[in-house]
Amino acid sequence: MDKLEKALQKAREQRKIELEHQSEQREIAAQTAREEPKNIVVSNTIQIQPGYLEEHHIIAHHTRSQEADIFRILRTKILQIMNQSGMKTLGITSANYGDGKTTIALNLAVSIALDLKQTVLLVDLDLRKPNVTEYLGIQPEFGITDYFLHDVPISQCLLRPSFERMTILPAGQQIDNSSEVLGSPKIAALAKELRSRYPDRFIIYDMPPTLAQDDPIAFLPHVDATLLVVNDGNTKIAELKKSLHVLSGANVIGTVLNKSAERKQPKRITKFIEYLDQSFNTSHPSNT
Ligand SMILES: Nc1ncnc2c1ncn2[C@@H]1O[C@H](COP(=O)(O)OP(=O)(O)O)[C@@H](O)[C@H]1O
Ligand SMILES: [Mg+2]
Repeated sequence: MDKLEKALQKAREQRKIELEHQSEQREIAAQTAREEPKNIVVSNTIQIQPGYLEEHHIIAHHTRSQEADIFRILRTKILQIMNQSGMKTLGITSANYGDGKTTIALNLAVSIALDLKQTVLLVDLDLRKPNVTEYLGIQPEFGITDYFLHDVPISQCLLRPSFERMTILPAGQQIDNSSEVLGSPKIAALAKELRSRYPDRFIIYDMPPTLAQDDPIAFLPHVDATLLVVNDGNTKIAELKKSLHVLSGANVIGTVLNKSAERKQPKRITKFIEYLDQSFNTSHPSNT
């Protein structure tokens, strides 16, 4: 074994020890969480730093802001459609990573919770690349995967950021076998429980992308409606078609054109949503 190989080997062993240690620490924390009383209702209110939100393009709470207004319009359109048929759970997905799912999910949640005085639960279901809490500047202790793997009670996972009426269920420890988790009976039971526990609550699921693996399919039966995010200039038509195919069993109520080219001006940091069209599946010109 030459020097380089030895060094690599050593680094690998060190990493393995670190990972084992982290896993042990997590298990101890999970054990403690399990032993705590079960009737805790979201007590972890977390102060959000405004600067952090700006950095991650979370702007829906701004007053007198064009960008925030776009979210108000989007929110109104979505709720109009959903309320008509008593729908309460919305999945947000897109073809790939980086299209803006999490950004839109967070802004929508903020807009619904603050303006409409409607309670919202935002669930981070992108278990491979979770970002919801990162964009809020929160480091959660537990999330869905801890519930799934270590039986940490959901009440211990829920967080309340300092936005009124908004609760977050973080993804938890990052995992690779996300589709198995999302397709499991345990997660199905959780989805049912979340939906039925507070009948007035609106639930937004920040979903994994449609084309990475089959995770969205596994969870789609649990959402009433789906919003498809299209990344202007990036999502290819073939990807869009594939996504719509993946979502063919889902109730796609609209699409959002994000990072729209028309608004790309050098000094604007946010170039938000341009388009929401219920009949996208059949009539959007770029889908032909
Ligand atoms: N409309 C937008 N304008 C500017 N930046 C955006 C916009 N939408 C998303 N972003 C940025 O693009 C990156 C990827 O967005 P994200 O919401 O994490 O995508 P996804 O959840 O689909 O992986 C983030 O850095 C986010 O801040
Ligand atoms: Mg995301």
